[in-house]
Amino acid sequence: MCYIIDSANVDFIRKILNIYQVEGVTTNPSIITKENTEYNLLLHNLVTVLNGKTLHVQLNSVLFEDMVIEATNLVEKFGDNLHIKIPVSTEGFKAISFLSKKGFHVTATAICAVNQGVMAALLGAEYLAIYVNRISNTGVDGNDVLKDIKTILHNLQSPTKIIGASYKSVYQITDSIKNGADFVTVGPDLFEKLFQSDITDQSIIQFTKDFKSMK
Ligand code: E4P
Repeated sequence: MCYIIDSANVDFIRKILNIYQVEGVTTNPSIITKENTEYNLLLHNLVTVLNGKTLHVQLNSVLFEDMVIEATNLVEKFGDNLHIKIPVSTEGFKAISFLSKKGFHVTATAICAVNQGVMAALLGAEYLAIYVNRISNTGVDGNDVLKDIKTILHNLQSPTKIIGASYKSVYQITDSIKNGADFVTVGPDLFEKLFQSDITDQSIIQFTKDFKSMK
């Protein structure tokens, strides 16, 4: 199991990389737009700060032919270490199949149902990004969907890995890990909450006080 940063903020990524060794970064057009930076420059900065770690970049195109062109251009510019995120739309399924066969690293994304995930895996997606909180907002536990996909992939002996995504609480993240997520991708709103604890901080303050009074 490994953690991923769900952000395109270079300063935040650098800060976390100084503390913890994550697997890489996931982005989508909404995350990219928040940075208010020219697209190619931002991707260049992300590749640089990641220094060989994985960058999952989502395609902006919606039609199969455009997706193939966009993916090819991205890999030409930023290297084949790039993982191409493709939403599991009708056109997306065509692109997942085509680009996987061509040897691209494909991350199927916006997965909100068990069959979407299983079908993307069968088409050759290397990773599945499962939208835990967005699923839970519909009244179905997103972690039940993640767990079902994990079980089916295991039964099929599929090599496809699961990324738990779209989190709004640390509880959801822990639950995904318990349910077998291979990765969890976590944004700036939650990342530090994964390891910060007032009780730990208070304990350290007490230890430091006691150390100072040591004879
Ligand atoms: C990451 O792969 C996803 O795009 C991201 O976690 C979606 O998060 P959101 O549902 O909070 O927008």
